[in-house]
Amino acid sequence: MVRAGLVLIFAALASGCASGAELDTLKPQGPIARSIDTLSDPVFLIAGIVFLIIFGGTAVIWWRFRDDHSDEEFPEQVHGDLKLEVLWTVVPTVILAVIAVFTLMTLSDINGREDNAMALSVDGTPVSWEPEIVVVGQQWWWEYRYYFDGLDGIDLSDTRHLPPADIVTGTQMVIPTGQEIELKITSRDVIHSHWIPALNGKRDAVPGRVSPWKLEAENPGVYFGQCTEFCGLSHSRMRMQVVAMTPDDFQAWVDRQIQPAAAPESEAAIRGRATFEAQCTRCHVVNGLNDEDFKGADLESNAAPDLTHLMSRTMFAGGIFNLYEPDGSLNRTQLEAWLRDAPAEKPAYAQGRRGMPNMGLDEGQIDDLVAYLQTLGETPSLEIIAASEVD
Ligand code: CUA
Repeated sequence: MVRAGLVLIFAALASGCASGAELDTLKPQGPIARSIDTLSDPVFLIAGIVFLIIFGGTAVIWWRFRDDHSDEEFPEQVHGDLKLEVLWTVVPTVILAVIAVFTLMTLSDINGREDNAMALSVDGTPVSWEPEIVVVGQQWWWEYRYYFDGLDGIDLSDTRHLPPADIVTGTQMVIPTGQEIELKITSRDVIHSHWIPALNGKRDAVPGRVSPWKLEAENPGVYFGQCTEFCGLSHSRMRMQVVAMTPDDFQAWVDRQIQPAAAPESEAAIRGRATFEAQCTRCHVVNGLNDEDFKGADLESNAAPDLTHLMSRTMFAGGIFNLYEPDGSLNRTQLEAWLRDAPAEKPAYAQGRRGMPNMGLDEGQIDDLVAYLQTLGETPSLEIIAASEVD
């Protein structure tokens, strides 16, 4: 019995220490996440000591005063020891007051806003960009919108009809390192929660509201995230990543992303574009193809991922599938399976037009579509492909 109990306790403890866990809150990679970590470490330590004193004391008292079946009927009764009463009122008050001061300091730190405009060139024009990214949650993926002229005069509350942005990505947010990035988080349908544990805590994405948040990464790398508010059928398949790049690499990324899609050259890709126009442009935008007359996606949410630079991302379907093999070649099997029958790969509601439907494409159309999709955007570095790989 005791042995079984110990095994259970050990199993519970061991389950908390996966090595290389992607969503580890205890390995901050930026100043904001670090200030949370700096607060939580001593609080956990204090809580641990209090735990040991209280439960240790309880165990000692339980053992010391257990019923020894003696004739004595009742132990001696004590009540209202003034010294003890004062002690256990004052000590917790002092502990909580000290923790409260540091908590408020941390809160003000992570909610503060810093002016840190960076110089960028957008389509040849120099701009001073106060790094700000609009984050829109929707069943079941995240959209990231970049407006390099700032957000003044843009109404973010009507998320189903947002004005065109300079860059729109899905599932992967690209940021420059060493810069505090302001996020404006909102949703198109239900409540989601945006969480990149290495860079900051969570913030809810609430429809009709715009919640400010911020992120900062010290070093280039890929930081994993997960929607943390139950949002329906595929909540657990609503993942995201932050790809942090040096400011120079970020500029190069902007230079590429700002371009419309190049015209396809191979015959298969040209056929694929025709199939795409017939089958996919009711929901998906490709700049240079259908952005001029696009009125919104034929979905409840009015939006589907912008595919102009699909291949510059390393995952698709809300961050659950790798778009590339580790050697940098296309993950053709998975992409084809998705085009063949998306709901079989990632459950979506049967009614209400959410998520990608089964388009009933034949194998020839799928091959052509894959050839066309491969022309959309440049392949990222092998380093990013390796670092962003999902299981
Ligand atoms: Cu979105 Cu859970």
